[in-house]
Formats: sequence, structure tokens, C-alpha cells
Amino acid sequence: MTEFLSHLDIDAAVTAVRQKTAYQPTIGLVLGSGLNQLADAIENADIIPYEEIPNWPASTVPGHSGRLVIGQLEGKTVFVQQGRAHYYEGHPIHKIVMPIRVMKRLGVNTLIVTNAAGGINASFSPGDLMLIKDHLNMPGLAGNNPLRGPNDDSFGPRFPDMIDAYTPALRKLAHETAVSLGFKLQEGTYAFVGGPSFETPAELRFLRTVGADAVGMSTVPSVVVARHAGMRILGISSITNMAVPDPVPGTELTHEEVMETGKIIVPRLEALLRGILQKI
Ligand code: HPA
Repeated sequence: MTEFLSHLDIDAAVTAVRQKTAYQPTIGLVLGSGLNQLADAIENADIIPYEEIPNWPASTVPGHSGRLVIGQLEGKTVFVQQGRAHYYEGHPIHKIVMPIRVMKRLGVNTLIVTNAAGGINASFSPGDLMLIKDHLNMPGLAGNNPLRGPNDDSFGPRFPDMIDAYTPALRKLAHETAVSLGFKLQEGTYAFVGGPSFETPAELRFLRTVGADAVGMSTVPSVVVARHAGMRILGISSITNMAVPDPVPGTELTHEEVMETGKIIVPRLEALLRGILQKI
């Protein structure tokens, strides 16, 4: 294998998935930290552990089980990535995004990504859901973009545009769905950082200054590759904690806190996703 994945590596994974499911999914769903239990809502599911798919990046983080769940939700055929690999686990960035290309080859044209994120915008509270309207790709700006390397023209152009990567019509639909369910979605810019250390106060002041409303360690590489491949994209962050430069003395952010708050948000996120899927 070369440094970068070739279309043969992608095709091997596509073939393995096709052998294990007869579904023709059109919507991809990526579930983040603490949100995995949502996959249990999928009906008549075909379940494929990541180990059974060649070249698939494994996730080693507690709370991120690693399997594909393909089945029906609200009458739509969905391809759910239950657990995802993160850059901080040591995978090269182009490997983390490989599942998105597999989805694309399988016929997925709409990607819904969820994650846990720290709230930077002072008007947010833990437990809020934030619609992602734009992102800051911090590793990408420094040269570590998942599209670095030879361009595969069968997916998209060498220099893809990133304006309105988060599809405006899907954002509108998400807002309307939330209102009909009786709550308000926050909206903002998600900053992707490499992790795994949480941010220092100086880093949080920097991110706030450059326009970040929330910060997390996932999602953006997948969105870049999905956009490159011409997919429609909806991104939702669960604000699991406030990421503030001046926290209450004695408080310390832990992965457990992120997981616990993530779980509490799940019913509202599930209702939102079901409402969106009904109308998508
Ligand atoms: N920082 C980075 N990633 C996160 C956070 C945070 O505060 N919360 C959940 N994921």
C-alpha cells in the first residue's frame, strides 16, 4: 500500500459491505461520543463490525463502539457509523475519512454528522444542541488536510469549494424541526482541533477570538471529504461542557463528563434526527 489509500483500497471495503447487506443506503449518519446508543433505534439492521471491513480505521476510545449499522429509520435507509476513529488515536488523517468514500460509493448522498463539543460561545449551556454552520479546520490550515496527496478525480476536484459546505436547506429544515419539537437549536462555527489534550486557556481565548462557537476533535475531516464528493451535509454538535478560558477554580474537564452529558442529550437529538429524516 502507498502512503495514501487508493481506489482499490476503497473498493475492497465497498465489496465487503455489499456482501453483508442488501440495503441501498442514501443517508449516512456518524454518531459521536456518548451518542452511540442512537444506533439502537435503527430497525431491521444489518450490523457489520469494523474488523470485518478491509482498510477500515478502528476506534479505540471508550464510548465509541466500532460497527456499521445499516437499516431503516423513519422510512429512510440509513448507513450508521456507530463510533468513529479520531486523528488523535494515531491514524493518518486520510484514513480517518475513508468511511465517507465508502458511503459515497454505496450511494450515500446526504451525510449527517454528530459530535460532542465544548461550548465556547458564552450564550451556550451544556445540554444545548448546536447546528454547525461553518468550521475552522485547525490542522487543515496548518497543512494536514485529508485531501492532501493525489486527487481522486472520480470523487471530486483537486481544489473543492468550501462555501456553504453545511447545506443551507438542511440547516433550515433542522431549525424548523427543532421549533416544531419545542426547542431552539443554537447555530455556530465548530473548530476542529487535533486533541487528545483539551485546550489550554490561551488556546480557548485564541479560538474565541477567531470566531469559534464550539470546539471538538472530530467531524471536520469527514466533512471536507464529503464536500469534495459533492454530498449534502448536516452537522450537529452536542454541547457537553463549556470550554471557557476562566473555569470555576477546582473544576477539571474529563472524558467521563463529556460522555455523561452526551447521554443526557440523546433523547432530544434522536427526536430531532427522526423529525429531519421524515422530511428530508
Ligand atoms: N474540547 C475539545 N473537544 C471536546 C470538548 C472540549 O471541551 N468537549 C467535547 N469534545
